[in-house]
Amino acid sequence: MWPDPDGGSALDNASAPRGRLIAFEGIDGSGKSTQARLLADRLHGELTREPGGTEFGAAIREIVLSSATALGPQAEALLMLADRSHHANSYIGPLLDSGRHVVTDRFAASTLAYQGYGRGLDLGLLDSLTSWVLGELRADLNILIDLPVKESLRRANSRPGGSQADRFESEGTEFLTKVSQGFREIAASGTESWLVVDGLGSVSDIHDEICREVENRFPGIVGR
Ligand code: ADP
Ligand code: TYD
Repeated sequence: MWPDPDGGSALDNASAPRGRLIAFEGIDGSGKSTQARLLADRLHGELTREPGGTEFGAAIREIVLSSATALGPQAEALLMLADRSHHANSYIGPLLDSGRHVVTDRFAASTLAYQGYGRGLDLGLLDSLTSWVLGELRADLNILIDLPVKESLRRANSRPGGSQADRFESEGTEFLTKVSQGFREIAASGTESWLVVDGLGSVSDIHDEICREVENRFPGIVGR
């Protein structure tokens, strides 16, 4: 399902206007992957994710999500940032430069929410490290799918093919509540461009709302 961009992709439109980067954020099970896929299709853009949007990132994803190793919060944060550095520099940046739109299932705000608000790492330090790995690159729009923790756990547990809980899914309600509150605070802080949508709506209503807002902010982008 996820692309394997290591080794480069066909960037055949070097003189096009720069593409837009749109990031979906929210707690586990909030509906990000569903909406990211729908929006990427609608924009004829590239769909990717963090952690794990590149072959290198897939290896990091396996380590960081597995509960087998007891990772400390610093090691966890640095793995997320290593994934993001490679993903942004080798994949997202070149795609945007070539005029392609990129929709990513999680990006920088996830580190602030999970490792900052969730694990208690210093937010200022995480911000500095994010700037260090991303340089000027930021999402043109972050979309927070806001869903009550209880409902997100219910959905995550009833996902088809229900797999074993990963490192974060096994953290439970208290951790997810801190992360959820963190996302709300980050979105409200106004440091970047945010759209907050109510995750309790139907898949198609949420998709329609997102398309309307994305088109408002970037006229001509939807169905280009
Ligand atoms: P995430 O990527 O945030 O973990 P998913 O998109 O994988 O979330 O959705 C988690 C589960 O909830 C999936 O089974 C999905 O089909 C379902 N789901 C997604 N969006 C909605 C929605 N708006 N209403 C009800 N169920 C949903
Ligand atoms: P994801 O595959 O999006 O999980 P889900 O579909 O359940 O939402 O993300 C994997 C996990 O990685 C998720 O629990 C959040 C966590 N994560 C962080 O803790 N920090 C980060 O910077 C990122 C990108 C993800």
